Amino acid sequence: MKQTNKRELTDVLACSQKVYKPSKKLIKQANVQDYEKTLKSATKNPEKFWEEAARELKWFKPWDKILDKSKKPFFKWFTGAKINLAYNALDRHIETETKDKIAILWEDETGRTREYTYLQLYYEVNKLVNALRDAGIKKGDRVAIYMPNIPETAMAMLACLKIGAMHSVVYAGYSAGALAERIKDARAKILFTADGSFRRGKIIDLKTIVDNAVKKCKSIKKVVVVKNNKQAIKFNKKRDVWYHDFVKGKSTEAKCAKMNSEDPAFVLYTSGTTSKPKGVVHVHGGYAVGVLRTIKWVFDLHGDEIFWCTADPGWITGHSYIIYGPLLAGVTTLMYEGVPDMPKPDKIWKIIEKYKVNVLYTAPTLIRAMMRYGKEWPQKHKMPSLKILGSVGEPINPEAWEWYYKYVGKSRCPIMDTWWQTETGMNMITPLPCAPLKAGSACKPFPGIIADVVDKNGKPVPVGKGGYLIIKNQWPSMIRTIFNNPKRYIKTYWSQIKGAYFAGDVAFKDKDGYFWIQGRTDDVLKIAGHRIGTAEVESAFVKHKTVVEAGVIGVPDAIKGEVIKAFIILKQKIKPTDLLKQKLKMHVRHTLGPMAVIKDIAFVDKLPKTRSGKIMRRVLKAKELGLPTGDTSALV
Ligand code: WTA
Repeated sequence: MKQTNKRELTDVLACSQKVYKPSKKLIKQANVQDYEKTLKSATKNPEKFWEEAARELKWFKPWDKILDKSKKPFFKWFTGAKINLAYNALDRHIETETKDKIAILWEDETGRTREYTYLQLYYEVNKLVNALRDAGIKKGDRVAIYMPNIPETAMAMLACLKIGAMHSVVYAGYSAGALAERIKDARAKILFTADGSFRRGKIIDLKTIVDNAVKKCKSIKKVVVVKNNKQAIKFNKKRDVWYHDFVKGKSTEAKCAKMNSEDPAFVLYTSGTTSKPKGVVHVHGGYAVGVLRTIKWVFDLHGDEIFWCTADPGWITGHSYIIYGPLLAGVTTLMYEGVPDMPKPDKIWKIIEKYKVNVLYTAPTLIRAMMRYGKEWPQKHKMPSLKILGSVGEPINPEAWEWYYKYVGKSRCPIMDTWWQTETGMNMITPLPCAPLKAGSACKPFPGIIADVVDKNGKPVPVGKGGYLIIKNQWPSMIRTIFNNPKRYIKTYWSQIKGAYFAGDVAFKDKDGYFWIQGRTDDVLKIAGHRIGTAEVESAFVKHKTVVEAGVIGVPDAIKGEVIKAFIILKQKIKPTDLLKQKLKMHVRHTLGPMAVIKDIAFVDKLPKTRSGKIMRRVLKAKELGLPTGDTSALV
């Protein structure tokens, strides 16, 4: 592959020749057995398709209308209906045999384990619902969650929803400043955290980060702290309460709020093209429909599976496919707190064997990191339980795809390369297990989704030509608005191509109609699958006392997909030293969090700009990658 992090047509066409056909056995047992037929019938009438999917859920009151388009682009699904996402993920299973199934399996890097059946989880969540209600949390309030990948994170999320409060989970790798910004925007009243989290043998002191963040957030009245590591922490007696004390003596029964289908369920902040993150809002009804239908069809769930999504609950992948998806489907979700290669590079494969994991859903960056250790490590493990593999977060390069297929899936597990976004809530372009696969393609849109690749005027581009990825219809789990900023919602997603949702990605289609996603068109970076805006990184740089201006681009990285290169203008008389580079790197890491991986810093005298003064990152990038600056088309 050429060293831009976008795919070139020639590579795509070469890869698109080879097709991996699913086995007859796999097709026979699958929820969907005919890929093309299913797509065709759903495309004819997507609303009917989604209505049929909605019937799998428990509604307190049925809908009057499937899709209401009267206030475009503020689309509404299943209007008039009453439902609760948490009720569907938890309470309804208590009335069936599912109640005795394991809902959550948990392990951490040190080998500690815990498990909860659906019934036990139900009791735990109810205690928390009662505790939150006693603490004054009501329908419509916001609760922030800054937690490790532990069962209490799921409990807190579900408890909020049962009350009808919105959760705002913030990835526990974000810095105090980033956490404070998100808490402030949501005006959250309570914050959940833990004394610490494990990563690579180290304890990350979450509580100190929280203390620094909350200093700046007047809205937070209480901080609930899970004792995860038993290390000494500072405790503010007026404000902080241990989780176990918070739920002590609370009843194990609690009423579930009957929400309108369109009532917001949660807000999840994600990076965009400005320095301010966007609070993506999802709702109770449609989100449940989209997530349940996709998890069951894409990963072929029948009810007894052990599902392992290696994301973090702080990202949309964690929301939809660690917590809500598996629980809506009544299967077992595995939560692992730690890294996949400690103490040895086969930790991940060992966990799969230990828990007899059926579905592994992970990111290309992890696959590439495992490739570096060598195929011997997965080869030592037969992993007979594995049935389906998944990939998400960034384009998977064909080499990584083939390695994953051969050495992890032993050439018998299909790979579901799922393209989607925080905003879409669910898998959007993805194969199904019965689909013929091509290494590196996300295949076709999920049934009920109509996508295309178009030019800037909305005209479909010819086969094999790059263009903007758009979604032409609406889907139930789509973003409803940006919290506190409906104008930005319209501008970001509905103003580029008339009548269509603008995804912000570039893609090709091949002659079979398969989509090949290339990457972002905008100034959003994907570092190890994590979404970070260049503007956020630039604004972090300019907060440093030595910096006047910063321009930031993503450059290709063999493992992380993309990493940051920064071009910095220093204040006059500041010496451009290597030590200063180190200091600036640490400063950004401190300001944003460790996801902002800066590979290189170049000190420059000026930055290329448009007449209106905007930094032309494309020019910086073309120069960096050795492309002619006049022709920046390859960088679209
Ligand atoms: C990228 C993650 C190629 C894409 C679920 C998208 C992908 C952004 C894929 C959303 C994939 C996600 N192939 N690119 N299978 N999945 N992306 O909001 O650029 O963190 O726009 O959601 O990730 O990132 P987000």
